Amino acid sequence: MRTQYCGKIRATHLNKIVTLCGWVHKIRNFGQFIFIDMRDLTGLVQIIFESQKNIIFKKALQLRSEFCVQITGIVRERDEKNKNFKILTGEIEILAIKLNILNIAKSLPLDYMNNNHDDSRLKYRYLDLRRFSILENLKIRNQITYLIRKFMTKKNFLDIETPILTKSTPEGARDYLVPSRNYHGKFYALPQSPQLFKQLLMIAGIDRYYQIVKCFRDEDLRSDRQPEFTQVDIEVSFMNSHKIRNLTEKLIKNIWSKIINFNLNKFPKLSFRESMKRYGSDKPDLRNPIEIIDVSNIFKNRKFILFFNINLKKNSRIALLCISGGCDLSRKKIDEYVEYVKKYDAQKLFYIKIKKNDIGLKGIDSSIKKILDEDVLKKILDKTNAKNGDILFIIADEEYIVNKSLGMLRLKLGIDLNITEKNTWKPLWIVDFPMFYKNDQGNFSSIHHPFTAIKKMDLKKLKNSPESAISDSYDLVINGYEIGGGSVRIHDVKMQKIVFDILGIKKSIQYEKFGFLIEALKYGAPPHAGIALGLDRIVMLLTNSTNIRDVIAFPKTTSAACLMTDSPSILNPVTLKELGIKIFKKKI
Ligand code: AMO
Repeated sequence: MRTQYCGKIRATHLNKIVTLCGWVHKIRNFGQFIFIDMRDLTGLVQIIFESQKNIIFKKALQLRSEFCVQITGIVRERDEKNKNFKILTGEIEILAIKLNILNIAKSLPLDYMNNNHDDSRLKYRYLDLRRFSILENLKIRNQITYLIRKFMTKKNFLDIETPILTKSTPEGARDYLVPSRNYHGKFYALPQSPQLFKQLLMIAGIDRYYQIVKCFRDEDLRSDRQPEFTQVDIEVSFMNSHKIRNLTEKLIKNIWSKIINFNLNKFPKLSFRESMKRYGSDKPDLRNPIEIIDVSNIFKNRKFILFFNINLKKNSRIALLCISGGCDLSRKKIDEYVEYVKKYDAQKLFYIKIKKNDIGLKGIDSSIKKILDEDVLKKILDKTNAKNGDILFIIADEEYIVNKSLGMLRLKLGIDLNITEKNTWKPLWIVDFPMFYKNDQGNFSSIHHPFTAIKKMDLKKLKNSPESAISDSYDLVINGYEIGGGSVRIHDVKMQKIVFDILGIKKSIQYEKFGFLIEALKYGAPPHAGIALGLDRIVMLLTNSTNIRDVIAFPKTTSAACLMTDSPSILNPVTLKELGIKIFKKKI
């Protein structure tokens, strides 16, 4: 139906007759002339209808925004004064000689050219997708998946699909469940990841597996989380963690260089402990140079412990941020930060403004001036290297509260004070995660998942003090986003059972849930390792998107609903009966 795409016509096509298909983007009627911007997925081109061409002109008068049209015309040069160098087709226009209205359009329920209320954008997503910015994101997403497939195929990886109707894999979220019609009372789980299948593929001897695969997790959603999202899932046999990281690094560098022409340097490695200590987070944004400085030792005497109301029975920490030039912050701004850290459970935020750092207490202005003495102040100044004009923000509390609140304050100050570097990329690996953590009920849970290998550790020690076990795992973080995570896996059945035991999974449940894995590990399972990268997050970063929805064609709301199809939806009683399901109304 077309000879050319709208956005591809250039001065080289002058005087050619072209036929285009697309939509009416904008109409301007000047009486003698009607101009329309015609749109297809490649861009816009200007069409002109002249009143001398009576029949077609009359037809053009019927055109409205978003009508779907086929137009034939002659490409001609625009008058010099009408050239628009902002768009690629801006030097030419098309004098229409034939107009075919393929379909009319109701006036749209949203103005997709402007930012609208999210609900209507999601309800009419097919119209929202007409916006060039999202279309561009989807094109970049396509280029990225193309590059990934090319890279992985070159490295001899096999793209193998794994089941969607399957059994629960513990990745830390709730499962989406599908009832079985054949087995009443039984449910499939949609995979939170293909973790166990990829391990089974290694046992099968596949050696190098990858898949660009949908995963499903019923968890609290955020701007970088969707209930169904896409992973670049990778698993290899006979490779250690160092090699996997190298391979991933090459893949990421390849994507960054081909998509945005940016050459990433070697990714540094940071241990989980160090990351928490210095940034209060296991996904630090290294574009922000502010680091958390520990001052617990300086404040360890009784007077301070009482003042800060520290509970010695709990793991506590006193730490601070030193903000260069922060002395200029107003009282009001400081109060804002005091309120801000309360969101992260820090009840108090103290400050010390360094006016003159060589005259002791006289040279500072501080909310804790009354309890400071010259000696402590000197120690703080020595430790922080604070210069005149700096401000120190101090929090004393349980360690996890200090880490979280100073970690978040660091990010906020980085943006507010324009300290965070722009237009740069700071990838890093976080390694040496603890294998387990104690959950609220006092039981051990896995930090990654229960199939993660433990870095060399005596079995007796592991059983006696699981909390000291370090896992052979790694997370890839770029600019503060967790882009991927993986590990070396347990390939020894005895070790796998020990880990299940530590996690408090009863023997019967071990067999019920993971019997197939336990069995498979007994048949010469090779050492293997892998990683999964969050594709949506990679696309977010490379398209400068702040919300994951902008890189997914049909995303869900933060409460996991699809406003366009109106799902989830109720089922009719016959279907429910077939599935053996009875609905109980939620008690409010
Ligand atoms: P993990 O749970 O760390 O590891 O997931 C891997 C990566 O997937 C992305 N991701 C998400 N992206 C969008 N929305 C979500 N809800 C979401 N959840 C996770 C993140 C994350 O780093 N099976 C293991 C991998 C392995 O061990 O090989 C796994 O799934 O970018």
